[in-house]
Amino acid sequence: MFSRSAHIYDAIYASIRAYPREAADLDALVQSKRPGARTLLDVACGTGAHLEHLAGRYEVEGLDLDAEMLAIARDRLPDVEFHEGDMADFDLGKRFDAVVCMFSSIGYVKTEARLRSAAQAFARHLEPGGVLVVEPWLEPDAWRDRHVGAVFVDQPELKIARMNVAERRDDVSLVDFHYLVGTPEGIDEFTEPHELGLFTVEQHLEAFRAAGLEVEHDPEGPMGRGLYVATHQ
Ligand SMILES: C[S@@+](CC[C@H](N)C(=O)[O-])C[C@H]1O[C@@H](n2cnc3c(N)ncnc32)[C@H](O)[C@@H]1O
Repeated sequence: MFSRSAHIYDAIYASIRAYPREAADLDALVQSKRPGARTLLDVACGTGAHLEHLAGRYEVEGLDLDAEMLAIARDRLPDVEFHEGDMADFDLGKRFDAVVCMFSSIGYVKTEARLRSAAQAFARHLEPGGVLVVEPWLEPDAWRDRHVGAVFVDQPELKIARMNVAERRDDVSLVDFHYLVGTPEGIDEFTEPHELGLFTVEQHLEAFRAAGLEVEHDPEGPMGRGLYVATHQ
């Protein structure tokens, strides 16, 4: 997944995601659903970019599958506990006031069975009355097959060009990122395959409800992909 590109993840996404504002919005949303919430788990936390801005407001922990992403998160937040694990099958043996899973990471579960299993794992980690916030990947109807995507970073000693052509196999989107990364050490060229499930709103809602959660869907969310906000009864 992101193992080869973990070291440039923040350089690429700092211009795409407004992490400080998103963290403030998450805080406001969590507090509106669970006033006084104190503990928060970020599932698929990546490099800890949201947690950096939530750590002052909550006792936070993070979980991710990718050891390289976690190494960056641990450097960024040395006092925070991070766990390596699969969002569809993890058990930290504790519960949180809030569990969040941002930036379409849920799509990496790929199958509906694993989506349901992830929803169960999220619910297992919520205190009674706790709140779950999940930002989904694209719905099947929103997928633009053969769309060409590109991102460019132009810093004095770091140049990145990343391109992909969107493909699809049934309800799995195939995103092969092609990277050219220039630093004073030279030009590195590599490809990274990503496969994400394309789930409908109904599939998400059913997965959260089957996990015993009461769920609302905001079709917009932080970047137009929507947002699920669920509470544990
Ligand atoms: C697009 S990044 C989002 C990272 C971070 N939440 C953010 O907003 O920048 C997707 C993250 O999901 C993680 N991931 C993918 N599959 C996962 C799984 N099955 N369990 C936990 N994390 C996973 C990847 O390692 C990566 O860090």
